Amino acid sequence: MKIFVNNKELEVSGQRVLIEELRQAGYEIPSLCYASDAKHEASCMVCMVRNEADNQMIPSCATFPTEGMRIDTESDEVTALRRMSVELLLSDHGARCGLCEGKEKCRLRKLSVQIKAKWNRFGPLAPVGPKKQIHVIGRLWFEPAKCIRCGLCVYNSRDGFTFQHRGFNMQVVIPDQSKSHASERLAALCPTAALFLKE
Ligand code: SF4
Ligand code: FES
Repeated sequence: MKIFVNNKELEVSGQRVLIEELRQAGYEIPSLCYASDAKHEASCMVCMVRNEADNQMIPSCATFPTEGMRIDTESDEVTALRRMSVELLLSDHGARCGLCEGKEKCRLRKLSVQIKAKWNRFGPLAPVGPKKQIHVIGRLWFEPAKCIRCGLCVYNSRDGFTFQHRGFNMQVVIPDQSKSHASERLAALCPTAALFLKE
């Protein structure tokens, strides 16, 4: 199947989501809630591209290519939307990079710098409360304040992590009786330092 990407023709299989096709062709598409080898639900909206054929912005991690698509990955409009998505996540991220021992691992921090996101575009930052770290299993620890509710740990821990509440009050939690369902692999999936390994 043929699609167009930034006005260049691209042959794609049609069997993989757009983000995979685009990355394989060398286009740099950011993602936070997506991992190619894990279950996910599109939530972060940093992988957005525009289909010029119908002028719709679409999450490339959750959209399969279709014949005739004309994908824009790099216009100012696309970049601005990705930046706004990051800024929304930052506005509710109860952490400060300068104080965070997990900052080298944090893909949210790296993307914020790369995309020139403003931390306070949506008002005062979420307050940093007393540090609360929860031991999960083995070397895996969870610091809820750093969670951006991407859901990767929820969808990939066999009902270990779970969402609690809805809307602005939604949180990710792990009940004590479900901790054995989690695994250390989740630390690498987590796009922030909310899940991390320590001895
Ligand atoms: S703990 Fe990490 S992987 Fe789990 S929802 Fe929060 S940010 Fe996503
Ligand atoms: S990476 Fe596509 S919505 Fe998060």
